[in-house]
Amino acid sequence: MGISIFSLFPTLSLILFLLSLNFPFTQSSPSSIYDHLERNGLPMGLLPKGITDFSIDPDTQRFQVNLTQPCNAKFENQLHYDFNISGFLSFGKILNLSGVSQQELFLWFPVNSIRVDDPSSGLINFDVGVVDKQFSLSLFESPRDCTAVDPSDSHSNSQKPSKSLGIGTVEEHMLRDVS
Ligand SMILES: *[C@@H]1O[C@H](CO)[C@@H](O)[C@H](O)[C@H]1NC(C)=O
Ligand SMILES: *[C@@H]1O[C@H](CO)[C@@H](O)[C@H](O)[C@H]1NC(C)=O
Ligand SMILES: *[C@@H]1O[C@H](CO)[C@@H](O)[C@H](O)[C@H]1NC(C)=O
Repeated sequence: MGISIFSLFPTLSLILFLLSLNFPFTQSSPSSIYDHLERNGLPMGLLPKGITDFSIDPDTQRFQVNLTQPCNAKFENQLHYDFNISGFLSFGKILNLSGVSQQELFLWFPVNSIRVDDPSSGLINFDVGVVDKQFSLSLFESPRDCTAVDPSDSHSNSQKPSKSLGIGTVEEHMLRDVS
């Protein structure tokens, strides 16, 4: 044997030492909103990086997040996050989501719910009202940097889709997008 237990020992003790340093820290740190997502079988990257101000009701699983600023993150499409995000967590689902919108053909659509129906499919569904939009789960593996946007910016939350903007056409395009 080329590697004896004695040559491994310093490495092992270093690893154990590092683990012991880390342990009290990980134990005492409160769970994050990302942990809550993971525990519900949802990818952490659904919410932007750096969230510390959050609450979750242990009974209803309603969560609330306050960002430090509204921001946009680029996935396949752009996602916009408002100052305040809330919704109900359950396994594989976020229901009654508010504060997240998704850009589609230069319009912003509120994302009402997010579902992972079958993790083995590698897909995640965003319910954006007019249609379900499917994305690859892997896009949302880890929380992304989110670029601050001016809350009064006309391209952000103030530009809600309206019936007068010709949803019919948009829907047609989106359906083509999905298939
Ligand atoms: C968010 O901000 C509101 C108003 O300042 C506050 O009541 C709430 O506790 C904050 N945090 C969460 C997680 O909602
Ligand atoms: C939304 O978040 C902002 C920024 O953290 C906070 O100042 C504000 O009070 C929050 N509003 C609500 C309704 O929680
Ligand atoms: C959640 O949304 C559904 C419609 O999508 C609505 O019927 C229900 O009242 C909402 N629940 C809460 C607690 O807001």
